[in-house]
Amino acid sequence: MKIAVLPGDGIGPEIVAEAVKVLQRLEADQAAGLRFELEFADVGGTAYTNHGHPLPEATLALAKQADAVLFGAVGDPRFDALERHLRPEQAILGLRKNLGLFANLRPAILYGELAAASSLKPEVVAGLDILIVRELTGDIYFGQPRGRRPSPDGAFAGAPEAFDTMRYSRPEIERIAHVAFQAARTRKAAGHAGKVTSVDKANVLETFQFWKDVVIEVHAQYPDIALEHMYVDNAAMQLVKAPKKFDVIVTGNMFGDILSDEAAMLTGSIGMLPSASLDANGKGLYEPSHGSAPDIGGKGVANPLATILSAAMMLRYSLRQPEAAARIEQAVQAVLRQGLRTADIAEPGAQTVGTATMGDAVVAALG
Ligand code: IPM
Ligand code: MG
Repeated sequence: MKIAVLPGDGIGPEIVAEAVKVLQRLEADQAAGLRFELEFADVGGTAYTNHGHPLPEATLALAKQADAVLFGAVGDPRFDALERHLRPEQAILGLRKNLGLFANLRPAILYGELAAASSLKPEVVAGLDILIVRELTGDIYFGQPRGRRPSPDGAFAGAPEAFDTMRYSRPEIERIAHVAFQAARTRKAAGHAGKVTSVDKANVLETFQFWKDVVIEVHAQYPDIALEHMYVDNAAMQLVKAPKKFDVIVTGNMFGDILSDEAAMLTGSIGMLPSASLDANGKGLYEPSHGSAPDIGGKGVANPLATILSAAMMLRYSLRQPEAAARIEQAVQAVLRQGLRTADIAEPGAQTVGTATMGDAVVAALG
């Protein structure tokens, strides 16, 4: 199994290194019979610095031929002054678009051991386990035509306007709706409600009236799954008011970007949450839901668990190794039970461990 490993910027390299340790430990376990061919490449600001482009041809080619991509994070304010197409963020957007990774799965799960880390009352979040399905290659992120900063080196100062267009095609909505209904079905079999909440802004935007209508059409094929609709502003409110009323949320690229950060924080730490971005055939890119946190990059204090859990998602969805995935997830639970905490999930005044110590503990817990 060939895995493209793209560490990226900020804390990316250090958190990815821990996930790699975990994969190598699984590999060393002869009985599991797993063989990973890990190939590393630059991406984001690091790639811009080394090769003049955030997504070099070689990196894209590697990602295309690999069975899966393990991704750290990109972004650094040092590159804010660059033309948009050279900024680090364009690397992840380019990978999503070029690899056709339209389905972004972002679970928000509260680990019982971390209930106190949430900013919400324990009874509001205890047992939270919801899934955000975010459409990832359409919407205002990839609208046509796109505005352009008028001059490459200067700012927008003096320009008369700027615009981005919001757009969805019927097949784009249909395929993400299928992903959401199927995920709800799988979750229902595991005891969840079997409900999809489609989040839109149909009261104002044609794009999202269309979204809503197409989701209703697709729903006809899933009579066993309940469908409800919610405006995005209300959804933002309900997520903090009664998050456990959700099961699967399906929404567009932009709303999904915002709501998934919000949902992640309900769990107390965005440093815990993995994500998968899948194409139509199950090939995927796996990355932590959090960003590159350049302020703490290189300090060895970042939480590697979201990346380690992303590697578990990779084993489950793209490499079809559910047992190895479950082993990693159980090892993460075990280190939490042992009381190990990186700074982001520690209670005030509690003892914390660094990135490598946390990764080593997960490796040890794998047995
Ligand atoms: C995310 C990030 C990206 C996005 C950025 C880095 C382009 O916020 O994955 O949620 O907006 O999609
Ligand atoms: Mg985001």
